[in-house]
Amino acid sequence: MNEYIQAIRQRNEGQNRRACVVTFGCQQNEADSEKLRGMAAAMGYAVTDTPAEADLIVVNTCAIREHAEQKALSTIGQFKHLKAKNGNLIIGVCGCMTAQKRRVDELKNSYPYVDFTFEPSALDRFPEYLCEVMDSRRRAFHIGEAAGSIREGVPILRSESAKAWVSIMYGCNNFCSYCIVPYVRDRERSREYQYVIDEVKEVVAAGAKDVTLLGQNVNSFAGGCSFAELIEKLSEVDGDFRLRFMTSHPKDVSDALIAAMAKSKNAARHFHLPLQSGSDEILHAMNRHYDRAHYLSIVEKLRAAMPDIALTTDIIVGFPGETDADFEATLDILRRVRFDMIYSFIYSPRAGTPAAKMENQIPEEIKSARMQKLLAVQDEISLEINQSLVGKALRVLVDGKSKNDANTYAGRSEAGKLVHFKSEADLSGRFATVRITRAEPFCLHGELQEK
Ligand code: 5AD
Ligand code: SF4
Repeated sequence: MNEYIQAIRQRNEGQNRRACVVTFGCQQNEADSEKLRGMAAAMGYAVTDTPAEADLIVVNTCAIREHAEQKALSTIGQFKHLKAKNGNLIIGVCGCMTAQKRRVDELKNSYPYVDFTFEPSALDRFPEYLCEVMDSRRRAFHIGEAAGSIREGVPILRSESAKAWVSIMYGCNNFCSYCIVPYVRDRERSREYQYVIDEVKEVVAAGAKDVTLLGQNVNSFAGGCSFAELIEKLSEVDGDFRLRFMTSHPKDVSDALIAAMAKSKNAARHFHLPLQSGSDEILHAMNRHYDRAHYLSIVEKLRAAMPDIALTTDIIVGFPGETDADFEATLDILRRVRFDMIYSFIYSPRAGTPAAKMENQIPEEIKSARMQKLLAVQDEISLEINQSLVGKALRVLVDGKSKNDANTYAGRSEAGKLVHFKSEADLSGRFATVRITRAEPFCLHGELQEK
């Protein structure tokens, strides 16, 4: 990697070149984009958020649902006219979409202004691939070339100073029957825990107040210690910061992890635990390896150990074969658990996954009707939970100013709830205590408490 970074740096010397990385998808992709920007900066590019002024554009794509892929393709399509204006512009596409042969072929054949593609698991080869395009001036589509190991020391240009992502593992071994991730991000591999601890110390020393450990299934971390042990080790890191992690798989949440969280001085009182469905039949068809009783038992243990813990989840509606009774079973869990927030998705068939080949696909109208119902049930619960916070003081990490009002700031509570409040002073990137005065289903309003 380094020799290519140096080679491009020399070419870019005195050229005033700019690079823009456009990101779609999840936090893992946001974290990968921070590495792409880090490598671009090391190669001598000034990093910009404006594609129109860039000499190098990299589009980091997502493939989780059809809609995500269509959005990325349409954005790539819009860059055609930029290439017409700037003959030197180089366009690269990476991310989960480009780990699929049929999408790479589509980019090759129908998007002639795309110069190169590479997969998420070959992220650190970006400088090498770019160098090759610059040298040969030929298009290159790299697929199936990942090394299968983790390269440490890739430069990172972080977008925010108060919040930081720290990847602890890559890939996925679970093969949930609806999910494309194991096919596009390869098998699980964990970083050695010492690298994780060093990176957390580094971001905290640089001012991070909210640190999220990232992996497709953090509970199966195997970087020289278990995930529970990693949380224990990280609770010894000094500094006033919140430690979060995502995503957890219910089949792997251990008692040791719950105990480590409860003891930790910096683990946020928040657990994101994707349920996907409340029906045992559907969970089985999804290849999730747990049932509703097991899920509910974890919730019980979490609440017994940390009574104030906020819970959030992911739900898929309209999985093949989902009956009205299966869907009701999902609503039943929503009502029993009373999540603080849910992320809900209409099932989207992904080519190459077992669920896409299942015969009993659900018609779109039924999927949308179920989604509306799910949202209505959850809105009511979220509003009730938020209303119960009125009068309480919450510690929020201030994101920055709200768009509409110069003196209104927005921050996130420990549970991840959006809190609006007025302040004369700019408190961005700092913790503030806000007394809640009004609740909505998706946000809270409050008054800044003077210390
Ligand atoms: N269709 C809809 N939602 C999906 N998810 C994953 N794959 C699909 C799919 N094919 C959802 C799951 C996962 C979240 C990140 O995206 O709920 O937890
Ligand atoms: Fe993230 Fe999955 Fe989308 Fe890839 S496919 S960007 S891992 S959500």
